[in-house]
Amino acid sequence: MSVSTLAADQSVCAPLPVLGRDVTVPLVTGGEVTYAALDYAASAPALQRVWDDVAAYAPYYGSVHRGAGYLSQLSTDLFENARRTVAEFLGCRDGDQVVFTRSTTDSLNLLAAALPAGCQVFVFETEHHASLLPWRNAQVTYLDAPSSPRQAVETLERALAGRHVHGPALVCVTGASNVTGELWPVRELAAAAHAHGARIVLDAAQLAPHHPVSVQDLDVDWVAFSGHKLYAPFGCGVLAGRGAWLRQAEPYLAGGGASRKVTRRADGGVDVEWHDSAARHEAGSPNVIGAYAVASACKALTEAGFDTLVAREQYLVRKVRDGLADVPQVRFLSLFGDDAPRVGVLSFVVEGWNSSHFAAALSAEYGIGVRDGLFCAHPLVRTLLGSDPQTQGECGAPEAAPGETSLNAIRVSFGAGTPDEHVDRFVSAVKELVRDGARWNYRTQDGRCVPDTSA
Ligand SMILES: Cc1ncc(COP(=O)(O)O)c(C=O)c1O
Repeated sequence: MSVSTLAADQSVCAPLPVLGRDVTVPLVTGGEVTYAALDYAASAPALQRVWDDVAAYAPYYGSVHRGAGYLSQLSTDLFENARRTVAEFLGCRDGDQVVFTRSTTDSLNLLAAALPAGCQVFVFETEHHASLLPWRNAQVTYLDAPSSPRQAVETLERALAGRHVHGPALVCVTGASNVTGELWPVRELAAAAHAHGARIVLDAAQLAPHHPVSVQDLDVDWVAFSGHKLYAPFGCGVLAGRGAWLRQAEPYLAGGGASRKVTRRADGGVDVEWHDSAARHEAGSPNVIGAYAVASACKALTEAGFDTLVAREQYLVRKVRDGLADVPQVRFLSLFGDDAPRVGVLSFVVEGWNSSHFAAALSAEYGIGVRDGLFCAHPLVRTLLGSDPQTQGECGAPEAAPGETSLNAIRVSFGAGTPDEHVDRFVSAVKELVRDGARWNYRTQDGRCVPDTSA
């Protein structure tokens, strides 16, 4: 189906209202334009609905759980209802727990801290560092990058079948890559994990904002995501799934809220009875507003309907792919092939350009915010670029010398709030830059490429 047919298709809904849609930014070449936020994969703008819900609740904000006052009770209800809303959004099983964390990184570190003794972990090298690194204290097997979804399943099956010790095991897998946007065969990987007696956690940081995620349909044991990528940037994340492992583990943080009863022992020590609900891993005063915002986003996306959201996003993906199809200098990065199903996240390199230079020009000359670098997935980007990119800092760009060949990549990402105009502007800006070059001079400052305004 072509872009023009889709545009006329009623199933392509209007973008959802988000904050910042009227914000203008200065161009180095003069004047101002509305900012085209095309870095949703890093952090998406807040949905207007989320912002309004938070603003309406804010005057009623109060301490949760033990507070006796009216607003404390209201806030406690709201916090616990947020848990139920998230459980519904994720299609959780009866008895599953929803733990509010700070982010996906926090959620996966929590699970890593809850692994039973002797647990073996299996993770593809293609994961975001948040999924790749938390298991380093366990016995972890890093699986090679697959070249197709089928090979991913076969690789996992082989690794699990080759286990010598049949103790607990965990597979950690992403739902959608933060680099290529490609969808991973989660259901098949879950089936393989379970067939070999392993459990599986889904990193849904990039999947949940774009696709319905059902713990039951996918048959995953846990799922993790971040509020700030789900249009709810208030510092809250989620780990949801089985109580097993979580209930037996030491609390992630020790403190109030996680403990049911604390007593002094005769020998002068302290005994603690920990909760075995989600509260066990939520010590300290919880982020009520963050949890409420996440629940509000879950409701807003569900009400908008994922069918129409997905249709719109795929329409935007095709706009980018079709729009740049006749620019041979642009190479999109992909593990599973150009036609593999993906969310609105695309990374590419431009022949003859340093990616940092290109991204800087998109920002300074067109008011378009994309991302350049290695996207906290160094092994994957290294594989995709077929080179050993220089790294500077965790997510930093290599030294950017304008005009050099790329050592890293550029990522454009969008979602439910993206208007057509942002994607159209991006496509014509890429074409213009490739054809005519940058109109401004750039220099390297603190490892980043910035417009040279010294003249
Ligand atoms: C696939 C994936 N997993 C995990 C994370 C980590 O998310 P957060 O930074 O919110 O912890 C990201 C962030 O970009 C991601 O893209």
